[in-house]
Amino acid sequence: MPESSPTLTVSTLTPSDASRAPVGIFDSGLGGLSVLRAVRAQLPDEALLYVADSLYAPYGERDDDFITDRTLAIGEWLVKQGAKALVVACNTATAQSIAQVREKLTIPLVGVEPGVKPAALQSKTRVAGVLATQVTLRSARFQGLLERYAADCRFLCQPGHGLVQAVERCDISSAELRALLRSYLQPMLDAGADTLVLGCTHYPFFDAAIRDIVGDRLTLIDTSVAIARQLERVLDQHGLRAAPDNAAAVPPRFYSTGDGRHQQQLAATLLHIDTYVDTVVIPSRRTAAPNSQAA
Ligand code: DGL
Repeated sequence: MPESSPTLTVSTLTPSDASRAPVGIFDSGLGGLSVLRAVRAQLPDEALLYVADSLYAPYGERDDDFITDRTLAIGEWLVKQGAKALVVACNTATAQSIAQVREKLTIPLVGVEPGVKPAALQSKTRVAGVLATQVTLRSARFQGLLERYAADCRFLCQPGHGLVQAVERCDISSAELRALLRSYLQPMLDAGADTLVLGCTHYPFFDAAIRDIVGDRLTLIDTSVAIARQLERVLDQHGLRAAPDNAAAVPPRFYSTGDGRHQQQLAATLLHIDTYVDTVVIPSRRTAAPNSQAA
């Protein structure tokens, strides 16, 4: 956020000020824009701040401590910008760090998780595929989801190596990308899957490419709309829902820890969002220097 912008914290605001405050949404990169799109549709009166931690994406290749460190730093940064609630629009960050972040941040939090439950409810063949990052798939949270919902439904879990990187370089349809997707999806089809959980917020951008490969043989489970509804419930519970006349609900503000101009081009190409993306430095314990790729 530019220097001149006001910095507010929810605790110092009156109830009506607090409800006008923005909702922070963050992801390692552009994937969370699939969530932002659903939030805008569900809650058009909310002001939104979006942070892409592009300098450090993909999180799926990072260690657990690094992901928690970045999630916490960005959450704290968004609180400083006056965010009244935070959507961690990243399955990987949620899986790895939401419990610790919840303990530290004072604002309400909404995380995301792969739609294992809806897949178990919908699958007729009782075989479903899950495409998510390696970090998400090996997390205790995800394993807990499987224990709860996989009693009578077989889940074929496939790490989506290379897919986040493809979105971040704006590749959602090249021949190479399609071949990579096919290598992940064909074994699921061969095993009789009829449902595919998109367990990473970057993956809804492959919707058309996946459709071209699998036709209508797989029902795609994307939880963006459910996340937007959950945010609505959480805001209502805390009396933080913006009034219909919220003048602050101007177009969302976008920030990237990477190259803002590149992110701007991606947002325009992938989502037809024509907006300025501010480049911001959000230091954290593991990334003390702005350009550090610290391990
Ligand atoms: N969109 C993130 C997710 O939902 C991508 C994680 C990554 O950066 O690897 O998991």
